Amino acid sequence: MTEHLTIALSKGRIFKETLPLLAHAGIVPTDDPETSRKLILDTNQEDVKLVIIRATDVPTYVEYGAADMGVAGKDVLLEHGGNGLYEPLDLQIARCKLMVAGREHWPEQAQRLRIATKYVNSTRRYFAEQGLQVEIIKLYGSMELAPLVGLSDLIVDVVDTGNTLKANGLRPLEKIADISSRLVVNKASMKRKHARVKSFIDKVADAVRKRQEEAA
Ligand code: ATP
Ligand code: PRP
Repeated sequence: MTEHLTIALSKGRIFKETLPLLAHAGIVPTDDPETSRKLILDTNQEDVKLVIIRATDVPTYVEYGAADMGVAGKDVLLEHGGNGLYEPLDLQIARCKLMVAGREHWPEQAQRLRIATKYVNSTRRYFAEQGLQVEIIKLYGSMELAPLVGLSDLIVDVVDTGNTLKANGLRPLEKIADISSRLVVNKASMKRKHARVKSFIDKVADAVRKRQEEAA
């Protein structure tokens, strides 16, 4: 009997960039999450399902074993803490940087700096390492707005081209981490379904390697 595999993915960028890697492992979804309202997608392999969830929820589903595996940005994993997860493979997709950004210069300020971000844990850790006590304001999106309306002095967000910052009169100031998406695996699934999971990881690793060679 073959073991079932459930893979957690988020819609949009991660789904699109993971598709060719899944195809290399012989897995092709039979529905498109951008048009279907289904949250569990069948694939060409009867025993492989995809669950479509919010990017920030992927580590939680995998940690609790609701999905055997998933794809999550390193920004999301740093924030989650990575409990109960293995992170066997850097997929080298959805690459960006986690950055401190703000207006032209680092604010001169006697009081505690205010930082708006959805990355509360990573932000606290980063500024603590710099020996700076900051006030963190938790937001769920559109962080770039916060300095424009006086909600914060700085923001912490992911930056790729820098176009979103520029369009809002902001610029990147300090890099916290390089980000790409990772394959994450539930620890129990790695043991119980070892052959199946290992074979999947090997095929996806091969796809990542081939992509890197083609890009070089
Ligand atoms: P949620 O829907 O839970 O709020 P999200 O909107 O951040 O999550 P996506 O925009 O699909 O979800 O981003 C998924 C991942 O892609 C992020 O966790 C990050 O690692 C990466 N990412 C985000 N923005 C960019 C970007 N502009 N360029 C490249 N990679 C990005
Ligand atoms: C992400 C992120 C930034 C932007 C950075 O937003 O939140 O706002 O990309 O990319 P850039 O440096 O190339 O402009 P995204 O476009 O994914 O929108 P979302 O957060 O609403 O999903």
